[in-house]
Amino acid sequence: MQWVTTYAEKVVSASEAVSKIKSGNRVVIGSATSAPEYLIKAMIANKEQYENVEISNLVPLGKCEYAWEGMEKYFKYNGLFLSAGTREVVNSGRGDFTPAYFHEVPKYYIEYLPVDVCLVQVSKADQHGYFSLGGSVDYTKPAVDAAKLVIVQVNKYVPRTHGDSFIHVSDVDYIVEYDEPMPEYKSGAITEVEEAIGKNIASLIEDGDTLQLGIGTIPDATLTFMKGYKNLGLHSEMISDGVVDLIKQGVINNKVKSINRGKSLITFFMGTQKLYDFVNDNPGIEMRPVSYVNNPYIISQNDHMTAINSCLQVDMVGQVVSESIGTKQYSGVGGQVDYMRGANMSKGGKAIIAMPSTASKGKISRIVSVLDQGAIVTTNRNDVNYVVTEYGIAKLKGKTIRDRAKALIEIAHPDFRAQLEEEFYNRYKSSSKDINL
Ligand code: COA
Repeated sequence: MQWVTTYAEKVVSASEAVSKIKSGNRVVIGSATSAPEYLIKAMIANKEQYENVEISNLVPLGKCEYAWEGMEKYFKYNGLFLSAGTREVVNSGRGDFTPAYFHEVPKYYIEYLPVDVCLVQVSKADQHGYFSLGGSVDYTKPAVDAAKLVIVQVNKYVPRTHGDSFIHVSDVDYIVEYDEPMPEYKSGAITEVEEAIGKNIASLIEDGDTLQLGIGTIPDATLTFMKGYKNLGLHSEMISDGVVDLIKQGVINNKVKSINRGKSLITFFMGTQKLYDFVNDNPGIEMRPVSYVNNPYIISQNDHMTAINSCLQVDMVGQVVSESIGTKQYSGVGGQVDYMRGANMSKGGKAIIAMPSTASKGKISRIVSVLDQGAIVTTNRNDVNYVVTEYGIAKLKGKTIRDRAKALIEIAHPDFRAQLEEEFYNRYKSSSKDINL
């Protein structure tokens, strides 16, 4: 087997591998669970050798040491979707942020931010010399394909996932062998508020719908109401533990999907070992690049596409803020607009934004008259149809701006309704109560 010899020739130590990164290079790190933590540690240890190395990624987990204070001497950070480890570097001005629809990110790393070096962790090679990219195909596979230099960490804990998730030994430049458990992401316990939101969302879902769900307790709560459903499909940027039991029980069986029938189509996942064991060598889970999975035109080819996403703030005309708190960048657009648009274009599709009615332990209403100064509109008011809170569902499409405001005030937290009503009056010189929806 020729690949065995090729493999052996490419194996190096982590310090040798990262010595191939040169000052001024753009280093793209695999997303979420595909980030090779051992290689990143070696790159940090080698920092004195670098100047102006750009680190770019989306949804980084882990410590993100390259973004810590003092690292700007060696690394400049450029995120396209922030997480806990990269918010500070961007909002303090030591790093930067590039806005991009998730489905376009592969194009970014080829055309606008061309990748020099790609760092990624992969499964052990199979008998034919193919590694699987495991948890992330999204931009990670296109970045591997486009990079001038590809360094992989071969890790026996990375699951072997199916779809367009394979790269051959001949396609990588350096191999570093190091086993470490996959990072785990655990959702919190479902609160009463999230349970009520989940119940309201579930009332919009019908047998045979194809679902897109994000991560967190709202999707988890929604899924607990799906037990009696039949023939649900999955076409989702990502999945977490919540879907595993429903697939095992045959509730999600992808049998009546319009495209990719029989497959749960995703581009990345993160969860616990329960999920990682489930996706391992599972041909029912099909991973493809985000340029396909999140392309609104592809999404829209699923009839009854139901997209469920979350946000931080919604104003009275239905503008949705999901990625910033005022001027502070919190996350990114990710796949939110991809799915809202895809669902709106789908025959019988539903574009849903769901959120608790308040934030900061009930002190702040997420439904507001006017957005916070500097807030970034993630989903514009024409792209959202349903807004859901624990108090109900506001259906926006087809409604005038005054009707929208009334519907949104009705699902705001009762503590804030009088204030919102006053702001409605100041704006429209009439009471929302005079409108019959
Ligand atoms: N004003 C001030 N603070 C607010 C706020 C508001 N209007 N809304 C929320 N917050 C605070 C919360 O209190 C919380 O603070 P804490 O961590 O101190 O408790 C924090 O902001 C995060 O809010 P939360 O609602 O818990 O966010 P989340 O972790 O559930 O993530 C999004 C929600 C919207 C940020 C996330 O879903 C996202 O980034 N979406 C965009 C991308 C996307 O939708 N992709 C497609 C699906 S994968």
